[in-house]
Amino acid sequence: NPEVFILAIESSCDDTAAAILQNDKVLSNVVANQLIHNQYGGVVPELASRAHQQNIVPVVDAALRKANIQKEQLSAIAFTQGPGLMGSLLVGSSFAKSMAVALQIPLIAVNHMQAHVLAHFIEEDGFEKPSFPFLALTISGGHTQIIKVANFFDMTVIGETTDDAVGEAFDKSAKILGLPYPGGPLIDKYAQLGNPKAFAFTKPKVPGLDFSFSGLKTAILYFIQKKKLENPNFVDENLNDICASIQHTIIEILMDKLKLAVKETGIKQIAIGGGVSANSGIRNTLKEAENKYGWKTFVPKFEYTTDNAAMIGIVGYQKFLTQTFETSSVVSKARIQL
Ligand code: KG4
Ligand code: ZN
Repeated sequence: NPEVFILAIESSCDDTAAAILQNDKVLSNVVANQLIHNQYGGVVPELASRAHQQNIVPVVDAALRKANIQKEQLSAIAFTQGPGLMGSLLVGSSFAKSMAVALQIPLIAVNHMQAHVLAHFIEEDGFEKPSFPFLALTISGGHTQIIKVANFFDMTVIGETTDDAVGEAFDKSAKILGLPYPGGPLIDKYAQLGNPKAFAFTKPKVPGLDFSFSGLKTAILYFIQKKKLENPNFVDENLNDICASIQHTIIEILMDKLKLAVKETGIKQIAIGGGVSANSGIRNTLKEAENKYGWKTFVPKFEYTTDNAAMIGIVGYQKFLTQTFETSSVVSKARIQL
């Protein structure tokens, strides 16, 4: 089998990323984070597009340099077609198209959500790949889905959020507590020092495998407002316990649905992805579930769970093997099904 070198480009949201893969191995994985959005408490689409424009050439250059690959060696270029912010997607796709045309090599369109799932198939020392079929739980600032994965490109969403994503639940809760954006990692940090049973928040009642997180946010807001009336320093004095209790509730919501998904599908392999899978409580709970419920769980290397281009590259490699290429008239899609 000849070596395949893929340049992958990801620009769906606020990170500009490029990676080089040699078959299923990652040679380089470069991400330029756009810190500009933090001061606004969320991603500002217009600023994101502009930052992608600034970053795309240096990021691709860095990926090639770190991989020690000349652009003439590339076999194909893969890019994120969607879902995502249109202005952000356009920068990555236009760049990928131009470069593929100039180098006269194939162009490969990648679905960002499929890429989060297939990131588990990157060859990496110390990380095992799931076998088909498995369940994927994708949890990030933009997505919350349980996906039944029958094969590389045979995926079915069997549960998803009806309102906020898990990452938003973390970030909005953190905002109520006065923590800076994005607050998810901070809740995780304080939660490790607190008592998860200190305060109880009611879990939403959503039928089937779907999720809802907006009610939790409101419950937390009212709880904090009420407590502050009694004691203006309530949050400062109880920050660790509050964070631990919020995180505990979110994890229970996720675990309840995962248990139901396992029961309904009979599949006991669970692979998680998305930025929220960095959460230490979620990681520990999943590890415990291996002994407790006989599950096998998969958590990819951290740099492949948040938005990155290596995951776009592994999908690109799979599509290269089946010669699934696009013409240069392919268009970006803000919304796109699995
Ligand atoms: O995948 P990601 O980097 O970007 C997208 O949203 O696509 O995910 C970012 C989200 C943010 O909501 C952030 O607060 C959350 O992941 N996050 C965490 C942790 N690390 C990142 N949430 C909880 N605990 C963490 N350790
Ligand atoms: Zn993502």
